[in-house]
Amino acid sequence: MSLSIRQIGPDEAEIYRTIRLIALEGDPASFASDAQTERDRPLDWYAQGTRDAAIFVAFVDGQPVGMAGLFVPDRPKTSHIGTIFGLYVRPEQRRNGTAAALMDAVISLARTRVRQVHLGVAVDNCAALKLYHRLGFQTYGTEPRALHVDGRFIDEHLMVRFLDKEDR
Ligand SMILES: CC(C)(COP(=O)(O)OP(=O)(O)OC[C@H]1O[C@@H](n2cnc3c(N)ncnc32)[C@H](O)[C@@H]1OP(=O)(O)O)[C@@H](O)C(=O)NCCC(=O)NCCS
Repeated sequence: MSLSIRQIGPDEAEIYRTIRLIALEGDPASFASDAQTERDRPLDWYAQGTRDAAIFVAFVDGQPVGMAGLFVPDRPKTSHIGTIFGLYVRPEQRRNGTAAALMDAVISLARTRVRQVHLGVAVDNCAALKLYHRLGFQTYGTEPRALHVDGRFIDEHLMVRFLDKEDR
């Protein structure tokens, strides 16, 4: 098994669609977007997604096994904040350090562009919470009923990591 991680571009929209739909179908409670809506999106929408945000994909033997995204707003008053979204690793690839490696790649890019990174995570997502705590994220608030999935309300912890307060 050889793991590689890289940012993908608009010409790789099919890869983005593939791993994104696997994530939304496999773990609907972990994401605000829903599979049905994104399944119906044209390929161009995914290509635009790679322009609007930095999309990192993890590959094993050439196949996409995970992803994570970084969005940076262009409005001057909020452009110091990056939002990490869509972190996902396929079940058969989990507990191998893939998510940690994806987060490393995202945060390395974030260091060059923003001063802090934010993310949201379901309060009962123990695996992701443990990862984010390990990576130095702290909870600054909790959004009640952030998601409504299959008749269930899901609260989300809102987390931040201040990149400009760290020793590199
Ligand atoms: C959360 C998720 C991304 C972790 O991916 P992963 O590749 O298995 O994570 P890693 O192997 O890089 O684990 C890194 C650390 O995270 C923590 N962790 C990951 N999975 C865990 C689990 N099932 N239980 C407890 N801790 C876990 C551990 O601290 C782990 O370090 P360790 O293995 O040295 O103990 C993956 O389980 C997933 O895709 N879940 C569904 C989607 C999701 O929840 N995304 C996050 C949305 S906010």
